[in-house]
Amino acid sequence: MGENQCDALVFFGATGDLAYKKIFPSLQAMIKRGTLKVPIIGVAKSGWNLEQLRERARSSLEHHGGIDAPAFGRLIELLHYIDGGYEELETFKQLKTALGEASRPAHYLAIPPKLFGKVVENLAATGCAPGGARVIVEKPFGSDLASARALNRILLRNFTEERIYRIDHYLGKSPVHNMLFYRFSNSLHEAVWNRQYIESIQLTLAEDFGIQGRGAFYDSAGVIRDVIQNHLFQVLSNLAMEPPARTDSESVRDEKVKVLKSVRALGPNDLVRGQFRGYREESGVARDSQVETFAALRLQIDSWRWQGVPIYLRAGKSLPVTCTEVVARLRTPPSVLYPSSRQNYLRFRIGPVTETAVGLNVMDVNETGVGQTTELVASRHPGANERDAYERVLGDALVGDRTLFAREDYVEEAWRIVEPVLGTVTPVFAYEPGTWGPKEAAAITPPGGWVNPFVNGEAR
Ligand code: BG6
Repeated sequence: MGENQCDALVFFGATGDLAYKKIFPSLQAMIKRGTLKVPIIGVAKSGWNLEQLRERARSSLEHHGGIDAPAFGRLIELLHYIDGGYEELETFKQLKTALGEASRPAHYLAIPPKLFGKVVENLAATGCAPGGARVIVEKPFGSDLASARALNRILLRNFTEERIYRIDHYLGKSPVHNMLFYRFSNSLHEAVWNRQYIESIQLTLAEDFGIQGRGAFYDSAGVIRDVIQNHLFQVLSNLAMEPPARTDSESVRDEKVKVLKSVRALGPNDLVRGQFRGYREESGVARDSQVETFAALRLQIDSWRWQGVPIYLRAGKSLPVTCTEVVARLRTPPSVLYPSSRQNYLRFRIGPVTETAVGLNVMDVNETGVGQTTELVASRHPGANERDAYERVLGDALVGDRTLFAREDYVEEAWRIVEPVLGTVTPVFAYEPGTWGPKEAAAITPPGGWVNPFVNGEAR
């Protein structure tokens, strides 16, 4: 076992939703791949026993990805369970006993952030956080700049920054993860990837479903805190960063932080917020909620490469489709010969399928001199053996590779950018479910318009 490899995995929130949907499938996948061989200790307060947790793991896998008999059998053997409150020292004393001689446990906090502080303190107080221990924390990391800083202070009292892994599962998605490879290994791409050629960049994270019973959480967050400040900013950082000096995790993370440092903080005219009709009737949501389920915003990156290239981000629930996609439009060539030709573009689809494409003009079949757009698709279809986002981020945390995790300074810069427009600084406008947000969102439209995935012609 490498000296960075953890020797036990503890996951708090073992009976929760995230564990059910994402963590058990990732654990089985890691076991199958041979990358997880250490004891796995679930912790939760549900009044359960180990047998019930095993049943939960079985049900999770039956509903999310399927059971692989040998790997599942091994998961059942490796799994332990401690039932107890996160505030009670007794829970952590039991954990200490279960950890035995482990000196490099990874503590994964798949629990609400308000509990992070207490759990971390209790881990330290009971000897569960020896020098080699690490802590993996789920998003959201704080709810604004002040709370993120406060959370960092708590974590840093008990773990050094190198031992803190702040998860953003978007970074584990292969098209996001591979963006740097695509960018920095293709001179064709890199030659045009700057303000001289790129006119605008737009990122869309659209979901055709609502808040799926997460009203209480969602109404304390909204789309800016839920997916823009983290997932979309991470995608943006990968798109906009300079080549790192080296490929080690700190060199990569230094460049990402530089991107956010170059982004101006948002003002009220840079965004439009929307809320789908029916949201206020959801359980856990305030009847007069002003929380946004949609936002469109315009960013400016004041860097040598990007100054003057507007960046548009939009994300929302109950939109017409589920798709995450980036479209960058190139400036048009002089129009002396073919004035009707359309803009070239680069397109990165991150989900539900992976595609990297270049939109080009070709003469139409009747050779009338009128162009039509065709796409060169550079890649699609993840390999059958590819790691899913959670397997990738958890696997990396277990071996101590920090590249895909947000560093303290990155998280704080991300909050700095959105902080001025959080809450009710701007009005929230209603929109019909199944539409592209409120009509007022037209105020935030990229030059040439939004590309609605699967809907309008330009990018399929
Ligand atoms: C989560 C958000 O972080 O990301 C959800 O809390 C959102 O609201 C989800 O639906 C999107 O992730 P994915 O992997 O389903 O695109």
